[in-house]
Amino acid sequence: MTDQYAVIGNPITHSKSPLIHRMFAQQTGQDMSYVAVEAPLGGFAATIERLRAEGYKGCNVTVPFKFEAFQLCNQLTGRASAAHAVNTLLFEDGKILGDNTDGAGLIADIEQNLGCKLLFRKVLLMGAGGAAHGVIWQLFNAGASIVVANRTVDKAQQLAAEFASYGTVFASSYEALAGKQFDVVINATSSSLSDALPPLPCGIFVPHALAYDMMYGKQTPFLKFAQEQGAERLADGLGMLAEQAAEAFNKWRGVRPDTQAVLEELRRIP
Ligand code: ATR
Repeated sequence: MTDQYAVIGNPITHSKSPLIHRMFAQQTGQDMSYVAVEAPLGGFAATIERLRAEGYKGCNVTVPFKFEAFQLCNQLTGRASAAHAVNTLLFEDGKILGDNTDGAGLIADIEQNLGCKLLFRKVLLMGAGGAAHGVIWQLFNAGASIVVANRTVDKAQQLAAEFASYGTVFASSYEALAGKQFDVVINATSSSLSDALPPLPCGIFVPHALAYDMMYGKQTPFLKFAQEQGAERLADGLGMLAEQAAEAFNKWRGVRPDTQAVLEELRRIP
C-alpha cells in the first residue's frame, strides 16, 4: 500500500510542500502520497488523530501549529526540544515522534547552496518569534556568533537568555545596531508578509554580506534594502523550504533527495 503523508496548516492552499515532496518521491522512486490538509484553528490535535487513524505515516506541520505539534509529541529530537517547535511528525508504534528540520534546512541552504560558511561569522537574526526560535539552535551549532534584534526588545532578551548556554548571543534593539556590521543578516520576522521593513539602521552589512529572507515568492522590502545597502548576496527562503523538506523526507524514507533539481524546478514555476 502507498504510504501516506501530509502537510497541516491554516491556511494551507498556497503550500509548495506537496509539490516538493511529490518531486522527491518521483526522483527517489518512493511509493508515497503527500497531500495538504487544512486543520481548523483549535482542531489540530483532532486532525492528527484522524490522520493516524487513517494510517498516515507522518506529516509536516506549518503555521500556526508548530508549537501545538511540539506539545503533542511522545518523543522529541534534541533540536525540536531546543526550538520548542515541531515541523515534522512520524507516527510509529502508536507514538508521535517530533523533529524540527527548519534550522537544518536554513543552514544547508546558507552553507551548501549559497557557499557561505557560518563558523565564527557575525550573524544578525531579526525577530524573536516562532521562526527565529526554530533556527537559532542550529545557527549556534554551525558556530555563528549571534545578535538577535527585535522590535519588542524584551522578547529578544528572553530568546538570548534561553539560548545563552549554547554560544555567544546578544539581544539588541534595532536602533542599537547602528555602527555595527554583520556577515550574514537573516530576516526571521513576519514583516515581509505585510511588505514592511524592520527598522534597520544603514551600514550594517559588511561588503560581501549575505542578506537572507526566510520569506519566499517575491522581492521583499528587506532584500531590496540590503541590495541598496551593498550586500553582495541576496537569498529568499525557497532554498530553506526545499532543504527542510529534504531533511523531513530523509527522516521518513531513509533516502536523501537531490534538492538542486527540485529547486531549479521551483524557481521556474511562479
Ligand atoms: P513567526 O512564527 O513568523 O515568527 P511570530 O511568532 O508572531 O511569527 O513572530 C513574529 C516576529 O516578527 C516577531 O519577532 C515580531 O516582532 P515583535 O515581537 O516586536 O512583534 C516580528 N515582526 C513582525 N512585523 C514586523 C515589522 N514590521 N518590523 C519588525 N519586526 C516585525
